[in-house]
Amino acid sequence: EKIYVGVDIGGTAIKVGICNENGDLLQTYEGPTETDKGTDAILNNIAAYVRHIVSESPFQWEQVEGVGIGIAGFLDIPNGIMKFAPNLGLRNVPVRDRVQEALGKPVFINNDANVAALGEAWAGAGKGVSDCVCYTLGTGVGGGIIIDGKIVQGFAGMAGELGHMAIVPDLEAIQCGCGKMGCLETVSSATGIIKMAKDAVERGDRTSLTAVENIMAKDVFDAAKAGDEVAARIVNRAAFYLGKSMATVAIVLNPQRFIIGGGVSKAGDFLFDQIRDVFRKFTPDLIQEGVEIVPAQLGNNAGIVGAAGLVLRS
Ligand code: BGC
Ligand code: NA
Ligand code: ZN
Repeated sequence: EKIYVGVDIGGTAIKVGICNENGDLLQTYEGPTETDKGTDAILNNIAAYVRHIVSESPFQWEQVEGVGIGIAGFLDIPNGIMKFAPNLGLRNVPVRDRVQEALGKPVFINNDANVAALGEAWAGAGKGVSDCVCYTLGTGVGGGIIIDGKIVQGFAGMAGELGHMAIVPDLEAIQCGCGKMGCLETVSSATGIIKMAKDAVERGDRTSLTAVENIMAKDVFDAAKAGDEVAARIVNRAAFYLGKSMATVAIVLNPQRFIIGGGVSKAGDFLFDQIRDVFRKFTPDLIQEGVEIVPAQLGNNAGIVGAAGLVLRS
């Protein structure tokens, strides 16, 4: 029996999983990323965690068919090079080749959100659907586009960076980590929601939100659900631009399903209904027909399952 190892590299943790050829997740392991220790430490950790999970499993190293990696940031996929990963502090790192040398197994690399989308398409909310687009709402806003069951990655590998769709009008736009103004990520990520809440508290807006230092996106959703108008406006703004960006994506790609994952999506129907309303409002009737906006199903595991899927599909 062959096994496929998936790796999901996040800002705080590296998650590793072993999948079989059906996308069943057989075993998982998680260790710290240690971004503060620099590039070499991160690369060493990836290799170490992969060896570790296999050694702890009932499988032999020889059964490992390959290793797939999902990683946040602007990737040159054809060359396996991380060009710029703001959240990990990586610039121009040949991640694929370095991990391949360390492990002696074929390594495939792709963007974290592309890989999460592939995972959902393979074994989650996109199962049986040929064309779906996935948004991950967390530290950033990730995007993954699956057309005909395959990741759309563009000529250099940067297609589907939906978080950097310039969608907030100039007068309200703030700067994004990518260097540009008005990206979706600045209003619809957990980071963006928290920033808007902090700004509101600091401005002295009438709100139940306090504890400025350790406010979480969930606090903002809870306050909005409880009737706090300031919090409700922030959530509405996050939903508005997400819905509007989906209207644009629907025009370009006509996907059957939009899948929303990441921590923020746990806000459930309270968030989803607002997104759906905006999408319905701005998308021509015939183009929205049959299109669904649904939550992701694999939760935190979408990335490792999809990363394992990279191996199987290459
Ligand atoms: C990065 C993407 C990533 C997303 C979610 C964005 O800031 O540009 O590459 O997929 O965050 O992690
Ligand atoms: Na992407
Ligand atoms: Zn941006």
